[in-house]
Amino acid sequence: MSTSRPSNSDNILNPETPSTSPAAADPTPEGNLPRHVAIIMDGNGRWAQGRGLPRIEGHRRGVATVRRTTEMASRLKLEALTLYCLSSENWKRPKTELDFLMHLLRQYLIEERRTLLEQNLRLRFIGRVDRLDEKVLREVERTQKLCRDNTGTELVLAVDYGGRDEIARATRRLVTKALEEGLSPDSIDEKLVAENLDTQGLAEVDLMIRTGGDMRISNFLLWQVSYAEFWFTQKCWPEFEDEDFQQALTDFGERTRRFGGLVPN
Ligand code: IPE
Ligand code: IPE
Ligand code: MG
Repeated sequence: MSTSRPSNSDNILNPETPSTSPAAADPTPEGNLPRHVAIIMDGNGRWAQGRGLPRIEGHRRGVATVRRTTEMASRLKLEALTLYCLSSENWKRPKTELDFLMHLLRQYLIEERRTLLEQNLRLRFIGRVDRLDEKVLREVERTQKLCRDNTGTELVLAVDYGGRDEIARATRRLVTKALEEGLSPDSIDEKLVAENLDTQGLAEVDLMIRTGGDMRISNFLLWQVSYAEFWFTQKCWPEFEDEDFQQALTDFGERTRRFGGLVPN
């Protein structure tokens, strides 16, 4: 985990680290930064259809937004950025669209490896992953191996992920430990449940962003968002820009979080 978190007054877009991105000159978001941001990257299909393009073109354009957003998260030294790439319910979609999404994921991993290394990003997958096809799995493993020793922002890709599925798998694991390893039911508390989720060891989600105009959670990180701040935008994922991300971070910094308690005087 990053220990040198930037304060509001730090120049978090370190001028000594030249970046090729024009966004490097963007202003620092104001207020406290979240440790963990999760994003429901929605609206790819509608973005494309609205322009007379096939839905898959929206997914293709969405990858560019993933690149920009990840770069910004790493520049800002966020601890974790979790991106919802494919839900366990998305398997209901036509095979052609799913095949294209798998192709995109594989291409992304191959093309992005160098950048992930340069940006010192750690990489984690949450969700089933095991149901992905062999060719994609191979690139997942290769990329993870390559990023193994990185120490910066953790990029968490939720692929074939469902919050309920994750909780059911954690429950199964705990029951197995109880039956086979003598784990006492009395020792099962929130901490132990959290340790058996795919997100084990990650900070709680502080900020949940959803693009595409819908205001729902769609089975994403159900356990982990218990005290997250939510931020919605009508913009579709392919048109989500650094300025939008900054706005979300600035708005987050202005929110009052009480966690069930009272605001201190
Ligand atoms: C989000 O965009 C990406 C995935 C679910 C894979 P959509 O494909 O859901 O786009 P819309 O919401 O139909 O526009
Ligand atoms: C959520 O979007 C899943 C991802 C962004 C990967 P969906 O498009 O699947 O969500 P619903 O069906 O509109 O709730
Ligand atoms: Mg959608």
